[in-house]
Amino acid sequence: MAEAPLYERLMQYNKEDIYPFHMPGHKLGKILPSSCLLNLDVTEVKGMDNLYEPEEVIAKAQKLLAKTFGAEETIFLVNGSTAGVIASILGVCDPKDQLILARNSHHSAHHGMILGDITPCYINPKIIEPYGLLGGISSEDVEETIKRHPKAKAVFITSPTYEGFTSNIKEIARIAHQYNKILIVDEAHGAHFNFHSSFPKTALSQGADIVIQSLHKTLPALTQCALIHFHGTRANRDRVKQTLRMIQTSSPSYIFMGMMDLLRKTLDEQKEKLFEPYIANLMHLRNTLKEMNHILLLGEELNKQYAIEEIDISRLVFYTGYTNLSGVEIDRLLRNKYKIQMELSSEIHFIGISSIADTKEGFERLLNSMKEIDQGLIFNQKNADIDNILYPPSEIIISPREAFYAPKEVIPLEDAEGKVSSNFVVFYPPGIPLLSPGEKITKFHIEHIKRRKNEKTIEVIRRGGL
Ligand SMILES: Cc1ncc(COP(=O)(O)O)c(C=O)c1O
Repeated sequence: MAEAPLYERLMQYNKEDIYPFHMPGHKLGKILPSSCLLNLDVTEVKGMDNLYEPEEVIAKAQKLLAKTFGAEETIFLVNGSTAGVIASILGVCDPKDQLILARNSHHSAHHGMILGDITPCYINPKIIEPYGLLGGISSEDVEETIKRHPKAKAVFITSPTYEGFTSNIKEIARIAHQYNKILIVDEAHGAHFNFHSSFPKTALSQGADIVIQSLHKTLPALTQCALIHFHGTRANRDRVKQTLRMIQTSSPSYIFMGMMDLLRKTLDEQKEKLFEPYIANLMHLRNTLKEMNHILLLGEELNKQYAIEEIDISRLVFYTGYTNLSGVEIDRLLRNKYKIQMELSSEIHFIGISSIADTKEGFERLLNSMKEIDQGLIFNQKNADIDNILYPPSEIIISPREAFYAPKEVIPLEDAEGKVSSNFVVFYPPGIPLLSPGEKITKFHIEHIKRRKNEKTIEVIRRGGL
């Protein structure tokens, strides 16, 4: 019999009764009306408008989105926030421009550098030293970086981070604008912020010029559904729109756009009804799990520290550094024994994503499982090796684009000092590139890689390739 291995695996996942504390935010269709999806799958026939030249029904839907999300103008993204991040960078910067870039930005921002021949001026986020996790980007560091790179066109910040930590966007926007820079905020993980006062303030309300949000991460929307928002006149919106047309599909999904339109209407009509019970369930979980003996559920104690403005309470970040099990092991236990799938895990933490689609039963299952797991653990403080999370300042020798196209070779790690990196080297946590393409490799980098990875070689720009 013929097989459909992926389809069958997906159907099996649904049958196993696994509770998803991961994206997408509709939580395996707990909220979305799925029966009509195929009926929405049309193309630019009469009456359906055109995403790239919207005049009628798409233009109207986008206007309504802008109002609901607090923007002057909003555009559907049908290839995720990835498309919005790349388009915003290409739309704002010219080739050879500099962009002030938070080093913990998503790959798509680094890819935007390569596509547009733009050179990054990195800002490192603050490190939460007791936990070895990344905090926010400090406004002082933004100002200092602008002063060192006065010609940079724009500032690109990721807020919130994967861990749900926001930076002080209001102050960063004030500084960026004072120096005549455009502020782009990757708010991929914060699409829900505008819908309840318990969440951090939105980047749009704090003065950002361009904001990108993935609806599919934290709201009930299909994977790839995202929005790009504009505020004010600093950014050239037409160029961003032109770029979107270059990098997105020429067959935008009407299922995605139609369902985003429906989600917006649902939020407009039933915001309180959807968010109040969710926040109550979430707070019950957070308050109860605060009492665990070994695992820490990170929370509002981090506000205003480590350049974190506010934490997003919807993001469930469990720190396991004081226990005898790693985050990966507890994640595995949750899946195998308790049928709960979290979003991500590492040696020292694991993360769950919650949304309005989560049920009381789902929260109860997580709460009871976590209490039971915590009771079986013993105290075991892991060495917080500070060297693993503090990175040296970067020295950029060539742009990421030049590094991308330059001839490369793989050499012994021992011989790499002084060479130019041709690739990313990232460790998680903390999840920021130790090296990115075009940066000089130092003794520090070599020691760090040896310590954290059983790797004997590294890819560099070939001698004579510069
Ligand atoms: C901070 C951040 N920005 C952008 C993206 C890209 O989002 P999408 O998956 O919607 O393309 C991600 C994806 O995980 C992300 O974490």
